[in-house]
Amino acid sequence: MSVRRISTKEYKQVAERMRKLQEQQRLIVKRMSKIKYKIAILSNKGGVGKSFVTASLAGALALNGKRVGVLDGDIHGPTIHKMLGLPTGFGMPAKPDGTIIPVEVPPGIKLASLGLLLPEDDTPIIWRGSLKTTAIRELLAYTDWGEIDYLLIDLPPGTGDEQLTIAQLIPNLTGFILVTIPSEVSKAIVKKAITFANRLNKKVIGVIENMSYFKCPDGSIHYIFGKGAAEELAEEYNIPFLGRIPIDPKIREANDKGKLFFIEYPDSEASKAFLQAAEKVIEIVEGRSTGNGKEGA
Ligand SMILES: Nc1ncnc2c1ncn2[C@@H]1O[C@H](COP(=O)(O)OP(=O)(O)O)[C@@H](O)[C@H]1O
Ligand SMILES: [Mg+2]
Repeated sequence: MSVRRISTKEYKQVAERMRKLQEQQRLIVKRMSKIKYKIAILSNKGGVGKSFVTASLAGALALNGKRVGVLDGDIHGPTIHKMLGLPTGFGMPAKPDGTIIPVEVPPGIKLASLGLLLPEDDTPIIWRGSLKTTAIRELLAYTDWGEIDYLLIDLPPGTGDEQLTIAQLIPNLTGFILVTIPSEVSKAIVKKAITFANRLNKKVIGVIENMSYFKCPDGSIHYIFGKGAAEELAEEYNIPFLGRIPIDPKIREANDKGKLFFIEYPDSEASKAFLQAAEKVIEIVEGRSTGNGKEGA
């Protein structure tokens, strides 16, 4: 068997890559140490409202007086910048040393997203796992959030590269918030997300049920996707239930128009539910509730 020796040039390249990775991990540890609570929003299903929940929860936490950041971890399909009112291609300021400054949007949310850097809405990001991991690592290493209370990380559906990268790179990830809709199919899939969090020994902070019901103008309530599945899930796994958000066409409209629903309709049932959910999250992560006893901040 012939053994190929690596050349000095190759050795230098590998050493340089290792040095860069170590430097980035050092920066991540430094930046994350200034953030009190780091929470990733997870669901195994797409289209259940993770990004909408992340944006609204960020708004509710900010109104609660918390300093909040949002990181879009959905590398293929970043959308949260639009829900927070910023167009694709808006840009993010960067310092000469490469440090990225998050963009601040009302009501006081700092946002970092690849969506702000893409030239057009229809520009696809066609990357395999390792490039996605690199993008997330670089966003975590180079974004300067300053001292903030909460960093919410919006994730794509599933339990793959992005979710693992976030869970492994962020020291002391406070935990996951799960989003589901009340259908049996969605409930079954969310169980996988719970198992994922448990395997990584990360806390599940709670579950939010989105699209829980539809209230007609005559006041009658319709449970379009079924009733009670998220509460059953919460009970079965001993996870806090954070609240239920109704289906509301105004939510879809506001999101499509790039208006933060939470600000446009502060008196809606959905906005009030988010305020309550934020209070529960604060109670749980800031130490006044039992949670499920797994690793926390
Ligand atoms: N409670 C709701 N009522 C009406 N439309 C909603 C609701 N939640 C989310 N939507 C809409 O559903 C679509 C998917 O939501 P999104 O947050 O992008 O889901 P995900 O991030 O899980 O893929 C969006 O068009 C959003 O505006
Ligand atoms: Mg999304």
